[in-house]
Amino acid sequence: MTAPKILVIGSSNTDMVIQTDRLPTPGETVLGGEFLMNPGGKGANQAVAAARLGGKVSFVSRVGTDIFGQEAIEGFQQSGIDTQFVFQDSTAPSGIALILVNQEGENSIAVAPGANGLLRPADIDSIPLNQLVIDFLLMQLEVPIDTVEHAARRAHAMGIKTVLNPAPAQKLSDHLIQQLFMITPNETEAYLLTGVEVHDEPSAHEAANMLQDKGVEIVIITMGAYGAFVKSRDFTGLVPPPEVRPIDTTAAGDTFNGALVVALGMGKTLEEAVRFANCAAALSTTKMGAQASIPAFAEVEGLFYG
Ligand code: RIB
Repeated sequence: MTAPKILVIGSSNTDMVIQTDRLPTPGETVLGGEFLMNPGGKGANQAVAAARLGGKVSFVSRVGTDIFGQEAIEGFQQSGIDTQFVFQDSTAPSGIALILVNQEGENSIAVAPGANGLLRPADIDSIPLNQLVIDFLLMQLEVPIDTVEHAARRAHAMGIKTVLNPAPAQKLSDHLIQQLFMITPNETEAYLLTGVEVHDEPSAHEAANMLQDKGVEIVIITMGAYGAFVKSRDFTGLVPPPEVRPIDTTAAGDTFNGALVVALGMGKTLEEAVRFANCAAALSTTKMGAQASIPAFAEVEGLFYG
């Protein structure tokens, strides 16, 4: 089987993580457990997930010339990711995320985007998209929205299928949604995009209908422990996840998205691909960290067929 070719455009951060019994309220200090520093960033996590699960991945990002950016690039290369389009910028530091994780594995995240905020449409223009044979373009929203819009427009004009994970949540233009093949919001992001409060299957269906009416072919709404609601021409329904005991849910959504495009690129049906992505995301929650927690292909297959 040839490896699906995935182009990921997005952020790279270094995550500074502290485990605490509970997340502090405003003005409160809580004592935490161990400190963990590990590579993160929604774009980078999705690129690493796609590569670790069998994709041939090129990553487009912007990091600083500091040690964090250098280590991030080395990590991508160790994961077999093509880094020729990871630009190094001497005018801004690499992105940093401060993350607190509570006993239930839930998190609070604040990001200083640094160089991620300087990824420009001109960077996208410097990539010879017509020479790369791409199965899927995968993006998120931790880099400037005009860069995401520009990339989606170029990809659409070339017939490349774009998958947008609209995280962190922000409003999107109808024009951008029209350029997409697939959109994968969680409940909060779906609410911001449609005004529908997603809390069960009927409300997810309603939000998915509204997004499809804007012109995107496939909608997948991720709903944490309930699974993922899928709406497409061939399949509509809730795909439940395997049960696991979560330790840290950071990057579960990123793992889901990276796994999803790889599984589709490998020829799985949409329902199978979502089930595979659910397995990958569930496994990622059983370990601490973002990229550190992304499972290998064999582990995901074990859960998928087990
Ligand atoms: O989705 C998880 C990611 O969000 C973390 O790795 C952090 O860097 C933030 O970008």
